[in-house]
Amino acid sequence: MKQIKVVGQKILSGNIEISGAKNSAVALLPAAILSDEVVIKNVPSISDVRALEDILSYLGADVYKEGNKLTINTKKVKNIQITEDFSNMLRASYYFMGSMLARFKEVQIAFPGGCKIGERPIDIHLAGFEKLGVKIKKEDNTYILKADKLIGSEITLPFPSVGATVNVLLAATKAEGKTIIRNAAKEPEIGNLIDFLISMGAKIKGRDTDTLEIEGVKKLTGGCVQVMADRIEAGTYILAGVMTGKDLKISNMNPNHLTSLINLLKEMGANIKVFDDYVIASKSEFLKPVSVTTEVYPGFPTDLQQPLTSFLILANGTSYIKENIYENRFQNVSYLKQMGADIEIDGDTLTINGPKELIGGVVTTSDLRAGAALILAALVAKGTTTIKEVKYVLRGYGNIVNKLTNVGGEIVLEDV
Ligand code: EPZ
Repeated sequence: MKQIKVVGQKILSGNIEISGAKNSAVALLPAAILSDEVVIKNVPSISDVRALEDILSYLGADVYKEGNKLTINTKKVKNIQITEDFSNMLRASYYFMGSMLARFKEVQIAFPGGCKIGERPIDIHLAGFEKLGVKIKKEDNTYILKADKLIGSEITLPFPSVGATVNVLLAATKAEGKTIIRNAAKEPEIGNLIDFLISMGAKIKGRDTDTLEIEGVKKLTGGCVQVMADRIEAGTYILAGVMTGKDLKISNMNPNHLTSLINLLKEMGANIKVFDDYVIASKSEFLKPVSVTTEVYPGFPTDLQQPLTSFLILANGTSYIKENIYENRFQNVSYLKQMGADIEIDGDTLTINGPKELIGGVVTTSDLRAGAALILAALVAKGTTTIKEVKYVLRGYGNIVNKLTNVGGEIVLEDV
C-alpha cells in the first residue's frame, strides 16, 4: 500500500509546472479508436492514463511513448469485450463505449470503476446511445451495445453530464446524418476533445456552448492534439499557495479556466496575482469566510470542493459549501475533524468554522480529491501527517511529491 508522509508548516516557494489535464486525457486516449494513427502531446504521468494505455494495448493498438507524447496506432484493434478487470480500473473506461460503437457499431464493456463519490449511474449515456439507434442489453455487470447503423438524432441531455456529452459526441462523429446534443456540458476538457476530433476530420460545431452539432462522416484518419493544462491540478496548487506559500508560482496553466476559484479567493482577501498563463499565490493573513455552491462549468467545480474545504478551515469565521453535483463527496471531512477542524455536515452542505489550527496525525483517503484535500491540510498542520491509500491521489496528480518537494515541501511517498 502506498502512503504519503508530510511534515507540516513548511513555506512553499518556487515554481510548480501544471501537467496535462487528467479529465481531458482520459477522453482523448479512448477517442484514438476512431482513427488509424494519432499523436497526443502533453499527456500527464498518472495511473489513469497508464490504465487506458493498457486497455488500448489489450484491444490491439500499438502505443508508443516518447516523454509525454503518445503515438497510438489502432489499425490492428479488434472488437473484443472490455472485461471488468480493465473497466474497473477507472471511470473513464466507459469512453470506449462511444468510440468502439463509432468504429465497430458494437461494444461489450463491464460497468466502469472510479471514485466512490456517489452512485454515478450512466443512464444519460445509455439514453443518448439509444437515440442514435443502439440496442442495449445488460448481462450481469456487462453492457452489450449493438447498432445495425448509427443514425444522427436530436438529443437533449436531462443534465449537462460531462461523461455523457463525451460519450454521445464520440459515437455521433460517425453516425449517418446530423446529431444535435442539447444541454451539453461545457467543461473546457470537452473543447479539447472537439479540437482532437476535428483534427481527425470530424465535423463538429458549437465548441464551448451547450449545443453541439455533429455531421457524421464515413472515415476519420490521423489526428493530433495537445492535452490542455489541468485546471483542477492548478486550482489545488493555488490553494496550497494561499495556505502556506511565499510567492508560489503555479505556471503553464490557463487562469481563464479557474475564474470561479480566483474570484472566490479574491473575495476572501487571499494573496494571489493572476497573469496570462500563471498565478502567484502567497499565504494570506486575514481571510474572510465565504459561501460556495458547486456547479457545472463555469460555476465552482465540484472537483475543487474538497481541496477548498481544507483552505476554509483557515478563514476567520463561518464558511458554507453546498455540494450540488455528487451525493457523497465529503469523505475527507471526518479526517479533517480528527486533525482539529470544526466542520459540520448537514445533508449536502458543510459548515466550516475557522480559523482552526490543525495537528498532524494518521489519515486515510478514499477518493482522488479527498486525498488532495488531506495533503493540503497536512501542509499547514503542526507536526507530521501520514496519509494512507494515496493510490487514489496518484490517479490524478502527476509527480505530486516531486512538485511539492521542489518548492520546499517536506513530503515523501512510501510503500508499506
Ligand atoms: C467528470 O465525471 C469528471 N471525471 C469528474 O472528475 C467531475 O467531477 C465531473 O465530470 C463533473 O465535472 C472525468 O472526466 C473522468 P458527470 P462524470 O457525468 O463524467 C450524474 C475527478 O475528481 N450522472 O458530469 O462522471 C452523476 O452521478 C472526477 O477528477 C447521472 O445521474 O460527471 C453526478 O452526480 C470526479 N447519470 C453528476 O451527474 C449519468 O448518466 C455529474 O456527473 C451521468 C451522470
